[in-house]
Amino acid sequence: MRGLRGPAPGDYGKQIMTTLAIDIRRADGRDAEAIADVHQQAWLGAYAGIIPHRALTRMVGRRGIQWWKGAIQRAANVLVVEIGGDVVGYATLGRNRARQLSQQGEIYELYLKPEYQGIGLGSRLFSAARKQLAAHGLDGLVVWALEDNVNALSFYTGLGGRDVAEGVEVFDSKALRKVAFVWS
Ligand SMILES: CC(C)(COP(=O)(O)OP(=O)(O)OC[C@H]1O[C@@H](n2cnc3c(N)ncnc32)[C@H](O)[C@@H]1OP(=O)(O)O)[C@@H](O)C(=O)NCCC(=O)NCCS
Repeated sequence: MRGLRGPAPGDYGKQIMTTLAIDIRRADGRDAEAIADVHQQAWLGAYAGIIPHRALTRMVGRRGIQWWKGAIQRAANVLVVEIGGDVVGYATLGRNRARQLSQQGEIYELYLKPEYQGIGLGSRLFSAARKQLAAHGLDGLVVWALEDNVNALSFYTGLGGRDVAEGVEVFDSKALRKVAFVWS
């Protein structure tokens, strides 16, 4: 039956990967609009039903084009993954913020547009971010993920991350547990 209806979603992903050029590079100001769009779609997709609706829409609303322009200009390290010339994902990275962990680097965020998830781009973006941290002389890295974000937990576990610490983040009085994964 599948042959009559066209490729399965995974096959479509493989097709994208083999026919379009994939590029991972540092973001510049011109990427701000595309990153804001990825951010909105990815966050609403990943956190609807986990983070309370009002808190989530407020967080997404704050991160418009101007916010991203500012972040890129402030030399925040932002990487984008581009496929066929379109920005479909981003990662932000820098120094580890958690004093109790000895790793020096951190990936603060790593997000892909929902239709580009599950075809290997996240793994590529992660390894580019890891290289970038190492190139800045930062030894080891940390990533935090909400415990309810099961896709993220299996993604980071699959990439060899060790889950070493827990924390809590409060969104509009709803406390959610988060997990720290580390790579040495
Ligand atoms: C999490 C995310 C970055 C992973 O990137 P991705 O490109 O989708 O993942 P990949 O295709 O590189 O897959 C790598 C591994 O992750 C795991 N994985 C990816 N997507 C998954 C899913 N939907 N469900 C379960 N496991 C998944 C698998 O173990 C996979 O290994 P496999 O290919 O051997 O099966 C991406 O799906 C995403 O942006 N999700 C929404 C936002 C988010 O949760 N970001 C992380 C916040 S901390």
